[in-house]
Amino acid sequence: MPESLSITASSVDPGLLALPWSTPLAEWPSSTIVFLPKGLSRHLVRFANLSGRVVAIKETTAEMARREYDMLGNLARLDAPCVERVAVIAGRRDARGEPLPAALVTAHLKFSLPYRALFTQVLRPDTATRLVDALAALLVRLHNVGFFWGDVSLSNTLFRRDAGAFAAYLVDAETGELHESGLTPGQREHDLEVARTNIAGEIMDLEAGGRLEGGVDAIAIADGIVSSYRSLWAALTDSESFGTDEAWRLTERVQRLNSLGFDIGEMSIESSADGTRVVIQPKVVDAGHHQRRLLRLTGLDVEENQARRLLNDLDEFRVRISRLGDDEEMVAHEWLTRVFEPVVKAIPWDLRAKLEPAEAFHQVLEHRWYMSQARGRSVPLAEVLTSYVDEVLRHRRDEATLMGPATDTVSLPVITANLPVMDDEDDDIDWRDLV
Ligand SMILES: Nc1ncnc2c1ncn2[C@@H]1O[C@H](COP(=O)(O)OP(=O)(O)OP(=O)(O)O)[C@@H](O)[C@H]1O
Ligand SMILES: [Mg+2]
Repeated sequence: MPESLSITASSVDPGLLALPWSTPLAEWPSSTIVFLPKGLSRHLVRFANLSGRVVAIKETTAEMARREYDMLGNLARLDAPCVERVAVIAGRRDARGEPLPAALVTAHLKFSLPYRALFTQVLRPDTATRLVDALAALLVRLHNVGFFWGDVSLSNTLFRRDAGAFAAYLVDAETGELHESGLTPGQREHDLEVARTNIAGEIMDLEAGGRLEGGVDAIAIADGIVSSYRSLWAALTDSESFGTDEAWRLTERVQRLNSLGFDIGEMSIESSADGTRVVIQPKVVDAGHHQRRLLRLTGLDVEENQARRLLNDLDEFRVRISRLGDDEEMVAHEWLTRVFEPVVKAIPWDLRAKLEPAEAFHQVLEHRWYMSQARGRSVPLAEVLTSYVDEVLRHRRDEATLMGPATDTVSLPVITANLPVMDDEDDDIDWRDLV
């Protein structure tokens, strides 16, 4: 009875109706399925092609799918990093009229990888630390908007490269609860404890499979999330007291938060009864300080550390062309057209699925630095680019699942299926060998 199929979505993609909902997900034909790396899970999750993009489909109960769908909507409204919801499909029946599980459909997060696909052989301690730091930052952001996760783990997180670090996204919101008036310390501690236990288990699992570099302590890595989380949380929320003659400390606090990538929505300032001391406490802090500035100046929407990197280059460009007095927007436009775009466009078309443009640009800058160091002089960008494309990029494996068309007029994007697992190549390259 196909008429009983119910689709919940904020905008219904007609392609959704074309998917074989009357077939159990496990039996979907390989023509519909896109093979991409995914994390471990209790439910069956598979990727499918939907109108030229990739979506993740999870089979679960109608209640759970609906709950997770609503939660992902709330998280998106609060600007928390998470996968984007697409639809809930309920009332599925097979050809014989037997009920099938409901399905939650989410958009595949482009250029993201589950942690197990970030390296081919062994997880190295510095990669592990970067993963855990990214997860700690995600947890701080989620707690800051009042989201209690309940099932924090590496498997429930997706990672994107972010200028040498990682940016983490929540993928599994099933166990989450939203308390917009804020979480209690007990709730936050609970999530941290769950995170620690799950990460320790996940790393030990790698160890058992021979996929952890020898001598690395799984417990120490797992403990890392607690310290990383606590120091970031304190930096964002701790109150600070100082004498009224030390007003610069207020500016300093704001700058410190900005450098961590956060903006202050509100700062509460109270002075002591005798008027000699002031207590400040940042209230609402939004992540993405550099992201927002770059977006405002150039229209580029990238990860936080990538934005920081691009802004540094923009600032250097401004000094280089001696236009310090000029309007920031004007210089930014010039930088975009004279520096950023030529670099991105110089990447051969067949190599563009390798890395996101902002990440490739970051790597070109890095490459320039190493080349200049080795030669003891600055190297022209064109030469750096040729060397980067031939020596580095060509040897990377693809990270995009979908590549946008060359121009807006080309209709169907190219799907790169069967994405191989890859090395965390940032670690593998000895840049000095290249020059
Ligand atoms: N939108 C998405 N983009 C990319 N990968 C996804 C997406 N949705 C799910 N995945 C992949 O599928 C895996 C399983 O998804 P999920 O964690 O939601 O399943 P689950 O069965 O609820 O997990 P658990 O066992 O933790 O309850 C994730 O680890 C992730 O790798
Ligand atoms: Mg999960």
